[in-house]
Amino acid sequence: DWTMGAYREEAIKRIRDQVGSGRVICALSGGVDSSVAAVLIHEAIGDQLTCVYVDHGLMRKGESAQVVGMFREHYNLPLIHADESELFLGKLEGVSDPETKRKIIGGLFIDVFERHAQEMGGADFLAQGTLYPDVIESVSFSGGPSVTIKSHHNVGGLPDRMNMQLVEPLRELFKDEVRALGRELGLPESFIGRHPFPGPGLAIRCPGEITRAKLDILREADAVYIDQIRKHGLYDEIWQAFVAILPVRTVGVMGDGRTYDYACALRAVTSVDGMTADYYPFSHEFLGETATRIINEVPGINRVTYDITSKPPGTIEWE
Ligand code: XMP
Repeated sequence: DWTMGAYREEAIKRIRDQVGSGRVICALSGGVDSSVAAVLIHEAIGDQLTCVYVDHGLMRKGESAQVVGMFREHYNLPLIHADESELFLGKLEGVSDPETKRKIIGGLFIDVFERHAQEMGGADFLAQGTLYPDVIESVSFSGGPSVTIKSHHNVGGLPDRMNMQLVEPLRELFKDEVRALGRELGLPESFIGRHPFPGPGLAIRCPGEITRAKLDILREADAVYIDQIRKHGLYDEIWQAFVAILPVRTVGVMGDGRTYDYACALRAVTSVDGMTADYYPFSHEFLGETATRIINEVPGINRVTYDITSKPPGTIEWE
C-alpha cells in the first residue's frame, strides 16, 4: 500500500525529530494499536525504546504468555513483563462502579509505569497507541466543559505526573488504517486481524464485583465462544466478540440436579471504527450450539444470553 508506505516513512521521521536522543517507554498491551505503535517506534529509534507489558490479571486465557512470547522472540523488542495481578485485583476487590473500576485501573497503570520507568533510570517520553476515535470521544463542546463518555485509560494523567512528553504516532488514524500500517510493518496477519481488546481488560466485561472466581469462569466461556466463532469461519466478519459474565445467578437443571450458577451474555458486533456498531446476526443454530457448549464445558455458567443492542444507544463493552 503506497499510502501507508509513505505514512510509515513520515511517521518514523516525526518520531526521530520529536524524540532525538531521548528515552521512550511504551505500554505494550498486546492489542493491535500499542503493538503497531511499539514496532513503528522501535523501527525509528531502536533500543532507545523500552516496552512494559503490564499484566493486570484481567487478560484473556493464555494471552499474556502469547503476547510476551511473540514480541520477545520475533521482534526482539526490549520488553519488561510486569506481573501485577495481585496489586490490581486486590485494589479492585469489592468495587462495582464502572467508572471507579476504570479510575483504579488507570491509576495503578500509572503507578506501575512510574515504578518501572524509575527502575530503568527514567524516560523522557511515553509512547501510546492512541487512535483518532480515542481522541474525539473525549471532546470539548464549543467552549463548554470537556465531556468524557468513558474514561479511556490510555488518555490518562501519566505524562504530566512523570513529566514526560507523549509520543502518539497513531493519533490521526482509524482502526483500519492502523491495521494497514501494521501490515506495512510486517506484523503477521493473524495478529493484525485480532479483535480490539480494551485496556481495562476483563474488568469491564464483569459488571458488578470482580472476583478471581468470576474472572476464571469468564476466561473459559470467552475461549469457548471465540473457538466457536473461529470454527464457523466468522472471526473476520466480526469487529469484536466477547463474553460478559453477569452479576446474577440463575436456577437451572442439569442431569437430576438443580444448579444455581452465573448467567453470561455473548456480544458480537460489526463496526468500522468502534464509534457505531451493529450486533452480529448469528444464526439460531450457531447461538444454540454455542450456548450448549458453554454450559457443558464451563462450570459456573448455566445460562447464556445474546446481546442484540446496537451502538448507539448501547456501547460495545458492558461498562
Ligand atoms: P465502547 O464500549 O465505548 O467501546 O463502545 C468502543 C471501543 O473501545 C474499546 N474500549 C477501550 N479501549 N481502553 C481501550 O483501550 C478503554 O478504556 C476502552 N474502553 C472501551 C472497546 O473495546 C471498543 O473496541
